[in-house]
Amino acid sequence: MNIFRTKSIEQSLSDTDEPEYKLTKSLSAFDLTVFGVGIIVGAGIFTLTGRAANQVAGPAIVVSFILAAICCGLAALCYAEFSSAVPVSGSAYTFSYASMGEIVAWIIGWDLILELLLAAAVVAQGWSAYLGVLLGHMGIQLPANWTYGGTVDVPAVLLALLLGTLVSLGIKESMRVETVMVGIKIAIVLFVIVAGIGYINPSNYTPFVPDPVPSSTIDSVWKQPLVQAVFGLQPTAFGVGGILAGAALVFFAYLGFDVVATAAEETKNPQRDLPRGILGSLVIATVLYCAVSVVVTGMVRYDQLEPSASLAQAFAHHGKTWMATLIAAGAVVGLFTVVLTMIIGCSRLVFAMCRDNLLPMRLATVHPTRRTPTKIIAILTAVIALLAGFTPIGTLEEMVNIGTLSAFILVSIGIPVMRRTHPDLPRPFKVPFSPVLPILSAVICILLTLNLAVETWARFIVWLAIGLAVYFGYGHRHSRLATGARLSPSIERAVAADRRPEHD
Ligand code: ALA
Repeated sequence: MNIFRTKSIEQSLSDTDEPEYKLTKSLSAFDLTVFGVGIIVGAGIFTLTGRAANQVAGPAIVVSFILAAICCGLAALCYAEFSSAVPVSGSAYTFSYASMGEIVAWIIGWDLILELLLAAAVVAQGWSAYLGVLLGHMGIQLPANWTYGGTVDVPAVLLALLLGTLVSLGIKESMRVETVMVGIKIAIVLFVIVAGIGYINPSNYTPFVPDPVPSSTIDSVWKQPLVQAVFGLQPTAFGVGGILAGAALVFFAYLGFDVVATAAEETKNPQRDLPRGILGSLVIATVLYCAVSVVVTGMVRYDQLEPSASLAQAFAHHGKTWMATLIAAGAVVGLFTVVLTMIIGCSRLVFAMCRDNLLPMRLATVHPTRRTPTKIIAILTAVIALLAGFTPIGTLEEMVNIGTLSAFILVSIGIPVMRRTHPDLPRPFKVPFSPVLPILSAVICILLTLNLAVETWARFIVWLAIGLAVYFGYGHRHSRLATGARLSPSIERAVAADRRPEHD
């Protein structure tokens, strides 16, 4: 039972040239940066900023944003090195298959499916909620039962179906829509910053770090951060602990830069452009987030900020309702691109896992003209639509963070491992000060996971157990590494048939 067998990098790269499994190489560094900003800037900045400032960190939320950015920046350097060395669909899954073995790769892939599926469903519901706010501003009320919070969230289902269709039409088509919408989204975020500066009242920044108080939002041990539950600490909000808890929360706002690496096979010059796309989009998001959090906590005192639609509310608070409407419109556009990019990323990840036959290989073929993995996209779209439409998935938001953090930890550890096992591999981008920075990255990510709730950990362990059952029930036996199966049997048969007359 060799569960630590590794897939050689040469094999991973040659798989990308198999005709039936080949994606189109059309993306540039600019496209990847747009892709990154499209997926990063979303529910986090439009909703979490206010909630984190109001409930856990106060005006010091900007420090939480900086801490989360440092954590993500370190992980992003590791992703940039890996993706420049192994530019293959599947991101962290593919990297760990080459460095740490099949079982680790499977676990990472399984975690990332959790991140992407749940994030797409959570953000689709957030989109539906903001659509309701926007239509409400325009005097239109949707039937309560058929929208966000009702029996079936029809707008969220329709969004998932629409975006799934768009993604299956082709990567270039998806990127065209995305570029326009990302432009609108960034314009609205810049508008919040520029228009908001005039409403800042410096007295709102005092106290910058409010004194710690017993938490009002944690009412059971299940909701307590793991580290507090283990050490029997009294749950508190604000103070220095609040800044850390805020960082674990707003971490969600940065998620997505890792998904840029899933587009590796569709990038024209991946060795050069993937690091640019990953790091560039993260830098843009960090600057925007810090500016927005300073402006918003300056406009409205932290204890008066609304935990949900805080950006729009900050302007409504100053009597500027048209600005609030504009921001709600920005959120609708912004969250649209997050879901779109999550579906693209998830489909490319599952595609890579199917191509290795850890999930059924026949699902991974790409459409002959559109060059997209249409079967996988159809299945994922159906799952996201069901989750978003029929479940109270919003409560599972933290699961997205734990799935991603665990992938970041393994990717960070993978850098020094890979430097040792493949010292001669060309690395157009290298993490500076390895192994110090990759290890620091892993340690910070571990600290953040310890700040997630006990119930999140419990659910995560259940998800992992299901994943291991699927691996030992299917992937371990069928893996192409184990069976030596070729990718395109139909092509092999055709070649063999062509050759036969010569031998006869
Ligand atoms: N970073 C993404 C968002 O904030 C997940 O919506």
